Amino acid sequence: MLTKSYIVLYIHADSVLVVQSYFLRMGFSSLISVLLLLLPALSSSQYLGNILLTNRKIFPIQEEAVTSYAVIIDAGSTGSRVHVFHFDQSLDLLRIGNDLEFSGKVTPGLSSYADVPKKAAESLIPLLDAAENVVPEDLHPKTPLKLGATAGLRLLEGDAAENILQAVRDMFKNRSTLNVQADAATIIDGTQEGSYLWLTVNYLVGKLGKKFSKTVGVVDLGGGSVQMTYAVSRNTAKNAPKVPDGEDPYIKKMSVKGKKYDLYVHSYLRFGREAFRAETLKVTYGSANPCILAGFNGTYTYSGAEYEVYPPISGPSYEACRELVLETLKVNEPCSHPNCTFGGIWDGGRGSGQKTIYATSSFFYLSQDVGMFDAKAPNARVRPADFESAAKKSCGLTFEDAKTAYPLLSNARIPYVCLDLTYMYSLLVNGFGLEPLQEITVANKILYEDALVETAWPLGTAIEAISALPKFERFMYFM
Ligand SMILES: *[C@@H]1O[C@H](CO)[C@@H](O)[C@H](O)[C@H]1NC(C)=O
Ligand SMILES: *[C@@H]1O[C@H](CO)[C@@H](O)[C@H](O)[C@H]1NC(C)=O
Ligand SMILES: *[C@@H]1O[C@H](CO)[C@@H](O)[C@H](O)[C@H]1NC(C)=O
Repeated sequence: MLTKSYIVLYIHADSVLVVQSYFLRMGFSSLISVLLLLLPALSSSQYLGNILLTNRKIFPIQEEAVTSYAVIIDAGSTGSRVHVFHFDQSLDLLRIGNDLEFSGKVTPGLSSYADVPKKAAESLIPLLDAAENVVPEDLHPKTPLKLGATAGLRLLEGDAAENILQAVRDMFKNRSTLNVQADAATIIDGTQEGSYLWLTVNYLVGKLGKKFSKTVGVVDLGGGSVQMTYAVSRNTAKNAPKVPDGEDPYIKKMSVKGKKYDLYVHSYLRFGREAFRAETLKVTYGSANPCILAGFNGTYTYSGAEYEVYPPISGPSYEACRELVLETLKVNEPCSHPNCTFGGIWDGGRGSGQKTIYATSSFFYLSQDVGMFDAKAPNARVRPADFESAAKKSCGLTFEDAKTAYPLLSNARIPYVCLDLTYMYSLLVNGFGLEPLQEITVANKILYEDALVETAWPLGTAIEAISALPKFERFMYFM
């Protein structure tokens, strides 16, 4: 009866597997009844009819692999990098050539074109062209294109950043055949960066889609801010303290891999590695700073302000440095919540989503630079106490000796090694309440299948963008 007719199905990608297995197990006739059962549920029979009439292509179902691409541009302060990711229908990463992603970079960053927004947008054209070449043409309309701008643009004055982003959106709309939404180019703030990074890390360690209590927490120490992100129970989320108007709420909802998560995320401005140096130098303004290596006398410039930098005549000391760091960290600030981290910020309840911690960015780079693990390792298990012992050792070195002791550490960072390490230890233990002997993973990359993938926000943004796509995919049956 159905011979020589086409049946077009518009169904959820996951249901196809069900249909397929019915087909294989029960044979042809039961397939027909499955189709009949499904048909009334189809939302747009009009659309169904159109495809039936116009689409000449016929795919055997086994060969119709439903895969998705996402194109994410990371617009940083020194350059812009494009990432193209390719996922199968269970959201597993597929290879593009030999790698798990395609990427390419242009320099300088968008912020160097502050007065010429159109030029800024045009600087991205080579990246866009390269990405569009990687994505098969018929998938362009379903492939999200997103640009996230971080530190560089955040610092521009007045409308400069918004003008650049608008020029980028215009360029995307004018030129790109990819899926460009109104919010295709935005500034990514700390809490977004934190939650996308949480997605990336949990994805790479195979925890995404699992119960919240099985996921891992991520603490990301950048230059300007530090982000803590972990999943909490529905109940904790419901009872989260309110924040003052205009501030990001403590809880962000995420829906990925068929699972809804309540993420506790907080970005502590001025508590990044470089920013915190300036904060301690403000406290010791006009006098010696006990965290600075002996034999150094210079200046530190951060965010347009300049600070004189020198240690006491008697030299620095770990104990005095730690006291200064704890004072600057504001661990004793009044807390109007059940429990706080520091500076009066709610701690999120410290539930099981924070039992396992991944620490990224500066936590990784500095522990690598001072030799806390094999310099070639993409990630390593360390304990907060390891930062403490490294700090004690470094505070006793002179500026000159430290150059020999830490060949991986750039000269510009050496005067602050005692300060940075003491800060990292204090932040983890006194700020976030970790046990000094608890193992954490410092990570820059994580092995996924047999490739190393960067622990950075673009992959998480891609995962979220793909998860937000309309869930219906087209299938055609020929019988
Ligand atoms: C986009 O196209 C419009 C109209 O064609 C043009 O005015 C505008 O300058 C273009 N913008 C970019 C960034 O190419
Ligand atoms: C640091 O150097 C400046 C000039 O180079 C000098 O005036 C100042 O006294 C020095 N400070 C210390 C503490 O050595
Ligand atoms: C606050 O912290 C204390 C000590 O860590 C803990 O015993 C208590 O359960 C926490 N309270 C809440 C509401 O999280």
